[in-house]
Amino acid sequence: MDLKKQAALHALQYIRSGNVIGLGSGSTMALFIKALGASLKSGELSDIVAVPTSEETAQQAREVGVKLSTLDECERLDVAIDGADEVDNNLNLIKGLGRALLREKVVATHADEFIIIVDKTKLVSRLGTRGPLPIEVVSFAVDSQIRWLTQLGCVAELWLSDNGLALLTDNGNPIVRCWFDDGIDNPKHLAALIKSRTGIVEHGLFLDMATKVIVAHETRITEMESAR
Ligand code: 5RP
Repeated sequence: MDLKKQAALHALQYIRSGNVIGLGSGSTMALFIKALGASLKSGELSDIVAVPTSEETAQQAREVGVKLSTLDECERLDVAIDGADEVDNNLNLIKGLGRALLREKVVATHADEFIIIVDKTKLVSRLGTRGPLPIEVVSFAVDSQIRWLTQLGCVAELWLSDNGLALLTDNGNPIVRCWFDDGIDNPKHLAALIKSRTGIVEHGLFLDMATKVIVAHETRITEMESAR
């Protein structure tokens, strides 16, 4: 079975009937949502209400009969489930290469548990070594943000679609992707620095947020845990 699917199926055990849950975005989450829909259909789970982190996730959830809500209606979530682009040994993450990082971060901060589902290819010893760090910016003065990000020691580029236009998030903002040659030296310092810059909306570093990471390997599933 596909490793992403194995991680997704494993995560279902952490959902209880009556839970209010956050639904992340991406291909691993699509598999989780499908499995959740099947559990609702079979009666294994019932009374689940979900807050989606993207229009795509909302659509996938609707298609399999998951009842949707918003953070305006649900003050707290029992659990948020999401994928990730990179996971380090301390359960710190890079997320957002599905362009949903802002809503994913907002939803995660409302959840009692934040459970990440990945296949083993997402594990890294240093964040920023597998791919770029995505950063959502306002569309006003994007070049200025790119210049500022470049002086942090990365190659920063506006994320473009095949037709050469900026790819936008569901919030209507462009994303700058930042490549670090040898990965990110000090993620906490970098996160604080980026967060302090006016015009940057959110970055894809999710530090000290995940409470559990479910990792699918070829022959087994492992869990990494943290007391958040
Ligand atoms: C979306 C995300 C995704 O969780 C991340 O990109 C992983 O995606 P996939 O499950 O498709 O590998 O952060 O913004």
